[in-house]
Amino acid sequence: MSRARVLCFRHNDADDLDRLLAAERASARRVLVATDGVFSMDGDLAPLDRLSQVCGGHDAWLLNDDAHGLGLVAGGRGSVAAFPGVDVPLQMGTLSKALGSYGGYVCGSRAVIDLIRTRARSFVYTTGLPPASAAAALAALDIVQADPELCARPIGSARRFARALDLPQPASAIVPIRIGSAHAAIEASRRLEDQGFLVVAIRPPTVPEATARLRVAFTAAHSDEQVDALAEVVADLTVDAA
Ligand SMILES: Cc1ncc(COP(=O)(O)O)c(C=O)c1O
Repeated sequence: MSRARVLCFRHNDADDLDRLLAAERASARRVLVATDGVFSMDGDLAPLDRLSQVCGGHDAWLLNDDAHGLGLVAGGRGSVAAFPGVDVPLQMGTLSKALGSYGGYVCGSRAVIDLIRTRARSFVYTTGLPPASAAAALAALDIVQADPELCARPIGSARRFARALDLPQPASAIVPIRIGSAHAAIEASRRLEDQGFLVVAIRPPTVPEATARLRVAFTAAHSDEQVDALAEVVADLTVDAA
C-alpha cells in the first residue's frame, strides 16, 4: 500500500488550497482535504463554501470535522449548515461536546462507511460505543432538533461577552483572549478560578509561541448575569496582563 502524503494549506485560505492542488493533484491518486468546521482555539469558521468549490475543481474530497459546530452553529445544525448548498462528502464530529456524551460520528456515502467499518484499524480493533452513551447522544440530538433557542444560547452569550469587552464578534461559542506569554495566561486563568470562573489557559505548543490565551467557552447553562460578571473580571485582568 502506498503511504499517504500530508500537505498543509494556509489557515482558511481557499486560494492557497487551490494553488497547492493545482501543483500537487496529479501526483496523487486520491486527495482528501481535511478541515475543522469551527476551529477550536480561535472559534473561527472554515469557509466551507469556498473549500468545497476548490475541492470540486480538483476531484478532491472535503472532510469537515464539526466537533465544535454541531448543536451550536447555524441553529444547532452545525457549521456546514452555515453554508447552504455546500457539498461536504465527509462530515464527522464528536458526541462529547454540545451533545454531552462520548464517542464520535462520521457521515458519508454507504461505500465510505462500509470501508471505514471494515478497514479503519482504530475502529475495527476497539470496543464499540457503550449503548448508554449512544442513547444519551440520541436524546441530546432530539433536544437540538426541538429547541433552537437553547442551541442559540452559547453563541448569544459569546457575543454578549465579546461586546462587553470590545472584542471581535465571535462566530461560535469560543472566544479567545490573547494574553501573550504562557506564564501570564496561566496566572490570568488562576485569578479567574479564584473568583469562581473556570477559563482554561492555552499555551504553546497547542497555539503558536507568544499567543498564549484564555479560551472562554460558553454553554447554554450560563446566565446573562454570569456572562456579564466574567466580562467585568476579565476587563480588569487584561489591563493587568498587558
Ligand atoms: C476539532 C476536534 N475534533 C475532535 C475532537 C476530539 O473529540 P473527542 O474528545 O470526542 O475525541 C476535538 C476535541 O477537542 C476537536 O477539537
